Amino acid sequence: MNYSKLLEIANKAKSNSYSPYSNFRVGAVLVAKNGSLYTGTNVENSSYGLTNCAERTAVFKAVSEGETNFLAIAIASNLEEIISPCGICRQVLAEFMTADAKIILGDDKQLKIYALKELLPLSFDKSSLENGVNDEV
Ligand code: THU
Repeated sequence: MNYSKLLEIANKAKSNSYSPYSNFRVGAVLVAKNGSLYTGTNVENSSYGLTNCAERTAVFKAVSEGETNFLAIAIASNLEEIISPCGICRQVLAEFMTADAKIILGDDKQLKIYALKELLPLSFDKSSLENGVNDEV
């Protein structure tokens, strides 16, 4: 996996960012297990709470095309400092990535790689539901 190349693709994806309210442009690219790439960007709304982050846009695009298994995601923005995914996006990523999947952050000057489990420790995920619900009172 070429991390710098993925960040370049994420960086390009941010050119379609619809962010007239924050002017904060974010791009993401997901790497599927079969090698396919899915990009996403943030899409804001005049009703601010309806905004969709770049990471979730990429996930929803991919899942709606039948891909549900991802090895990595690279994320870029128009800020100087590295940004990392918000809590909601971390939870959504955990639905479709293993704990060891890579979160690639940075730009052409800096590169930071985390495992999803480092960004979302003690997560609630589908394995939490596998043992059935105890409905005894
Ligand atoms: N945003 C993302 O797209 N990804 C992140 O990881 C953090 C925040 C977007 C949402 C909103 O359009 C803007 O950045 C400001 O929060």
